[in-house]
Formats: sequence, C-alpha cells, structure tokens
Amino acid sequence: MRTDDQHAARGTIERATATLAASWARFADGTPGARLVRTASVAAAVFPDGPERTIFNNAVLLDHDADAVAAGAEVEARYADAGVDAFAFWVHETAGAATRALVAAGWRRAESTLVMTLDLEALRAPDGPELDLDPAPSAARCFAVNGLPRGLFPALEGCRVLVARQDGRDVATALTVEHEGDCGVYDVATVPAARRQGLGAAVTARALQEARDRGCRTASLQSTAAAERVYARLGFVPIGRFHEWTPPADGGRRRPRRPASSGA
Ligand SMILES: CC(C)(COP(=O)(O)OP(=O)(O)OC[C@H]1O[C@@H](n2cnc3c(N)ncnc32)[C@H](O)[C@@H]1OP(=O)(O)O)[C@@H](O)C(=O)NCCC(=O)NCCS
Repeated sequence: MRTDDQHAARGTIERATATLAASWARFADGTPGARLVRTASVAAAVFPDGPERTIFNNAVLLDHDADAVAAGAEVEARYADAGVDAFAFWVHETAGAATRALVAAGWRRAESTLVMTLDLEALRAPDGPELDLDPAPSAARCFAVNGLPRGLFPALEGCRVLVARQDGRDVATALTVEHEGDCGVYDVATVPAARRQGLGAAVTARALQEARDRGCRTASLQSTAAAERVYARLGFVPIGRFHEWTPPADGGRRRPRRPASSGA
C-alpha cells in the first residue's frame, strides 16, 4: 500500500473508531453509574451495574502509536476501580506494534468483528420488501428484536431507531448514532422467523438514507459474520478487524457475548 493510501486508510479507521467511542458515550449517558472514560490513547465504556455490566464493558485503543500495554493496564485499573472484573480491549488489527506488545505481555485474543465503512454517496438501495416502519419506535423495542436483556440503557437519547413491523409484530430494527458526519450503525437485527426476506438490508438502507438526508457523509459499523454480505451489497467496504483482548490476569475467562453484536 502506498503511503498516502495508508494515511487515508488510517484516517478512515480513526473516523470509525471515534464514532464507536461516541456511541458508547451516548449509551452511557443516563445509565446509572455508567460513564465513558477517555485518556489520550483509549476510550473505555464503564458499566458497573445493571444488564449492561456483562455485555458492554469495552475499551478501544484510539492512538495506534500509543504504548498499548500501558494503555491496557490503565484501562484494567479503571475497570477495577469501578468494580468491573471482565472487559474487552478492542485494538484494530492494523495497529501492529500495539498488537505485538499485547501478545508479548500475555494478553489473550477473544472475539473479533469486521469494521466496515461506506461513503453515503455510494449507498446502493436494495431490492427489498416495502417496509412497514413504526412511526413511534423505541430503543427498548429495538433491543427486544436484538434479543438483548430488558432494561438496557433506560435513558437513551440522541439515537435514531427504526423498527419494522410485519403482521403486527416487530421484526427488524436498526439504531444509529451520528458523530461529526459519520453515521454509526448498531443493533441491526431481524427476528429469526423473518430473516432472508430482505428486511435487514432494507432497514439498514433506510437508516442510511435518512442519515444522508440529515447531512451525514459516511457510515461505519462493526459487522458480525452473518451480516457482512448484507452490508457489502449496500456498498460497505471492509477496513480490517477489531480484535478484542482480555488481560493476562483474566486467566482467559470469557465474558458473556451479546447475542447480536454491532459494536455497542
Ligand atoms: C444479519 C441479519 C440482520 C440479516 O437480516 P435479514 O433480514 O435476514 O437480512 P436480509 O434478508 O436482507 O439478507 C440476508 C440474506 O437473505 C438473502 N435474501 C434476501 N431476500 C431474500 C429473498 N426474498 N429470498 C431469499 N433470500 C433472500 C440475502 O441475499 C442475504 O443472503 P446472504 O446472507 O447469503 O448474502 C440477521 O441474520 C440477524 O439479525 N442476525 C443476528 C444479529 C446480527 O448478526 N446482526 C448484525 C449486527 S452487525
């Protein structure tokens, strides 16, 4: 890759990462005891209580050139202060020195998600079904379609939520958080009985069209394997993976995985 391409790729990764951190801040706002901790090199979503505790304690390396082991140790200390004993430290795979340092220090790699971005001018509308969108959707219903625990993020504000209905039931959903012209796409899901009808693509495309109409220029997300082709058909391109690391003292203990992960 040429140097200017590397700069462009790094800028795209940083933009998607900034939106991810902004979404965590939004999710933490109004959630009892929760907060986003920022240092020069990391952002850490701290959820000490409630249903969020087992799912959303995630930190991300913002500065690929930072001392990742020191940054990770600081994150670990912040979580310990909050009484949180299991978290994941997300590091983009292109942060090579950071990754090597974590491996050498005994950090363990757990899950990974594919980061994908889209220039909204290149959004391709799918040939999907006509959507029956609820005029008054709520985040709680979006989370229910995702199979997430009840009571998540009780005071969530500043997000856009779409909930599509079929025969009077909520069947498909997406939630977006906009940050400096980038539309972060989260919590895309279709209930199992309604999958493979084009609903996932249609609801995502609608959310993106609305974001573009509001002035967003780009979109970003972290995709599960199940959704990668859906997003690719809309025009999203992969920009590498976030690897999720747990500290050596964790002894390989794995925190429960959310049923449908789109990054939050
Ligand atoms: C990923 C997910 C949202 C996709 O939802 P969906 O409504 O099934 O999505 P779509 O119907 O638009 O597309 C899914 C597949 O059905 C196919 N499809 C769409 N319409 C179809 C039709 N009328 N007939 C047959 N197949 C069809 C698509 O081509 C796609 O195929 P592919 O995955 O093999 O490429 C859903 O599987 C899900 O909720 N998974 C769990 C949560 C999750 O992973 N969410 C993503 C977070 S990033």
